[in-house]
Amino acid sequence: MSPSQEAPLARPEPASAAGVSAYAQVLPSSAEIGPDGHLAIGGCDLAELADAHGTPLVVYDEGHLRRTAHDFADAMSRHAPGGEVVYASKAYWGLAMLRVVHEAGLAVDVASGGELHAALAAGVPADRIYMHGNNKDEREIEELLAARVGAVVLDGFDELDRLERAAAARGVTQRVLVRVTPGVSGDTHEYISTGQVDSKFGFPLASGDAAAAIERVRESPSLELGGLHVHIGSQLLDLSGFPSAAAVLARLAREVGAEDLGLINMGGGLGVAYTRDQRPPSIDEFVATVVEAVRAAWSAEGIPMPRLAIEPGRAVVARAGVTVYRVGGVKDIPGVRRYVSVDGGMSDLLRPMLYGATYEALRVTRPADEPVEPVRLVGKHCESGDVLISEAHLPEVAAGDLICLPATGAYGVAMASNYNGVPRPAVVFVDEGHARVVARRETYADLLSREL
Ligand SMILES: Cc1ncc(COP(=O)(O)O)c(C=O)c1O
Repeated sequence: MSPSQEAPLARPEPASAAGVSAYAQVLPSSAEIGPDGHLAIGGCDLAELADAHGTPLVVYDEGHLRRTAHDFADAMSRHAPGGEVVYASKAYWGLAMLRVVHEAGLAVDVASGGELHAALAAGVPADRIYMHGNNKDEREIEELLAARVGAVVLDGFDELDRLERAAAARGVTQRVLVRVTPGVSGDTHEYISTGQVDSKFGFPLASGDAAAAIERVRESPSLELGGLHVHIGSQLLDLSGFPSAAAVLARLAREVGAEDLGLINMGGGLGVAYTRDQRPPSIDEFVATVVEAVRAAWSAEGIPMPRLAIEPGRAVVARAGVTVYRVGGVKDIPGVRRYVSVDGGMSDLLRPMLYGATYEALRVTRPADEPVEPVRLVGKHCESGDVLISEAHLPEVAAGDLICLPATGAYGVAMASNYNGVPRPAVVFVDEGHARVVARRETYADLLSREL
């Protein structure tokens, strides 16, 4: 796949007069057009929310989030009873979000000391936390040992040595999973593909490093081997990589001895629809495919089925979230194109600039009106590459109009920055007509708060 496109973007059909049904795939399940023609989510009018809280504004449908987290837990309990769903909090680690997934019975994966701090602050018990990261430093290792996290996903020999020394110094034994680079990748953009041999993540299998890491852990009095971990890639719309990844892991498990490899974490990666033409597998299909892949691979090697874990991030949060922007100006370049500038951009939604991710745009007022010629939807940052949507299919828009970008709940605010001194947006959870601010908008004072 070309590095500039996450998936082929077909020109969508115009939205039907039936409202937002044409966008059902990308909007939260509660999305509707209210009596005054405004797009509403969780029973809350997006125009009223924008007036009350300012723009850009990130809005999550809390009911949709709860149902999605519950659907993952339910699918796992049906297909692999006793298995575990671990929410990859890098997709969005806000405290309210972490509480929702914890209450739904999910464990949490954190990829830094900061995410660990957030998970503990949200009340996630330490033994329900998996600590990731391809370069855990001394401080993070001290923090995870002090917290007594449930498992550390080991990523390299240097951090294995650091963790072993620190655990020995504390007189504790730390449970670990060995992250294996299987040489199998998902069909996705190279920046979010992680299972291939040429990767900064994990212990390569082909070189023998994965087997060597397993032996090192077994010999260590301060580390306890809990199992293996693999993550083949993200935004997978096709699940065909899982049987190959499971086969490779099962062979490794048989070769090194499977007796203490009790848990196999097959990672996350289930894709979502960012645009109306994308058709991701369902949660149930994803869980069933991964479970069946592991069952078949372990059975082919004649070793007992392990306990299973999966680690979805975007598939839990992406579709529940939308971002609302206000148009500041429209610029026509005759014979070239029309630019529509909004009051956010790469500081709140970096994915289009980082790896060519594609999104839809809807006008908040009468979103189902006929689209005019495609426009280029751009942010307010001092970069020509600050393009949210290269060809947005919108009805007529003018300065002051509100634009909603669906499916921005994952890796949106989580990747937000203060580029150009732009304060990061507020985050609001909506449910059954109630809205609550779960993260306030940054202020100019916040921007200067670290300056000495
Ligand atoms: C190790 C690991 N697990 C899980 C995930 C979550 O991926 P996704 O959000 O695509 O489900 C990632 C994403 O980068 C990852 O690196």
